[in-house]
Amino acid sequence: MSKAKTQYRCRECAATYPKWMGQCLDCKAWNSLDEEQVSAAQSKPSRGGGYTGGASQAIVTLDQVKGQSHITYSTDMGEFDRVLGQGVVKGSVVLLGGDPGIGKSTLLLQAIANLSSRMKTLYISGEESAEQVSLRGQRLDKDLSQFSFLSETEVEKILATLQSFAPDVLVIDSIQTIFTATLSSAPGSVSQIRESAAALVRYAKQSGCTVFVIGHVTKEGAIAGPRVLEHMVDTVLYFEGEAASKFRLLRVVKNRFGPVNELGIFAMTATGLKGVTNPSAIFLTGRETAVAGSTIIVGWEGSRAILVELQALVSDALGHPKRVALGLDQSRLTMLLAVLSRHCGIVMGDQDVYVNVVGGVKMPETATDLAVVLACLSSFKNQPVDHKTIVFGEIGLAGEIRPVPNGEDRVIAAAKQGFTRAIIPTANAPRKKINGMEIVCIKRIEEVLALM
Ligand code: TYD
Ligand code: MG
Repeated sequence: MSKAKTQYRCRECAATYPKWMGQCLDCKAWNSLDEEQVSAAQSKPSRGGGYTGGASQAIVTLDQVKGQSHITYSTDMGEFDRVLGQGVVKGSVVLLGGDPGIGKSTLLLQAIANLSSRMKTLYISGEESAEQVSLRGQRLDKDLSQFSFLSETEVEKILATLQSFAPDVLVIDSIQTIFTATLSSAPGSVSQIRESAAALVRYAKQSGCTVFVIGHVTKEGAIAGPRVLEHMVDTVLYFEGEAASKFRLLRVVKNRFGPVNELGIFAMTATGLKGVTNPSAIFLTGRETAVAGSTIIVGWEGSRAILVELQALVSDALGHPKRVALGLDQSRLTMLLAVLSRHCGIVMGDQDVYVNVVGGVKMPETATDLAVVLACLSSFKNQPVDHKTIVFGEIGLAGEIRPVPNGEDRVIAAAKQGFTRAIIPTANAPRKKINGMEIVCIKRIEEVLALM
């Protein structure tokens, strides 16, 4: 009889310790160790490192390996295929993260319903019953005659089913509800998530089945079992959006089979998610007059331009001055204000500065720098920037305006949306004239003052 052993695992980084401690030595988190029971069979690897399924692989030299391109399946959802890298890759493991209620189940239900007419698919849910999923599928007007569904949460039982059913594409909804009987900790704990996901990844690699794993995001913004899942899977997608907006953004943060930083845009409608193929202007409010503190930036996501309004509010601080950046990097805002102070002599040390990208969009690019500075100046001086003007450009610590990728394409995209003036880095000046667009090229941050 094997005896169970006690160990302690960190909730944040999954490091294990034989004794309880107040602080995790690995990630330095306090009070993050949970007790868990490990069966002796699991703690002591058996022959073959605890892994018993399948024969061991032979060592090869790489010139013997035939270059084989990935086999992909189209989901008939253009936006989803593009984000994945030309469709679902055979044998890959994809993690789909996002807030509860954002539409993860809906997205995969639609994709699987489309795939099910051409291949064997299986949707396993630990969250919803067959009736609930079926009702939703019918509401989305999908053909469910080939749609196989299983309600199960124990990973050993799931694996046993998979051996006999052998689907081509599998969905696990969600990893937080799945548990392995080899651990005594509760479903949803880091160790359960890690072990269950590891078993599913092994299955995908052995069988060539594509596995989609849905993961809910915790308040801290990481998929629960922080980061432990991200490095185990091939592709990590995050589904984001504002509760009040119908638009949903599908962002790729890791992809072994396609580009990262690609962005899929969907609209949540009464009949499910619809791809938005021309998203340039969806985040613009269409303001008819200029207001102080507002600028329009042209972001670049994957292969497309997106125009978004950026707003700043600079007001007298009551107490310690605040720096708040929503949708942007907070430390970048502090840096830009320092550059503004050093090179333009405009000091906002006694002011609160709030900057917000409208529509809940995240703009991680440095191309937003110039727009942030312009919006802050506009609010500070209470002077509006013309509302038909777009701005982009990176700002260096020496006050120089640096070029950004796809400069000319950004200007062309803005011209198509009816904008008439572009304030851009000199090095991004378009090579030929763009109809209806006045180009203002700047080299240094000091030149921004003359534009106000
Ligand atoms: P869901 O896919 O269940 O979210 P998740 O799996 O990420 O928790 O999405 C649920 C939300 O989507 C719910 O608030 C209702 C909305 N919704 C629509 O607006 N239209 C639809 O056709 C469907 C299926 C859902
Ligand atoms: Mg769901």
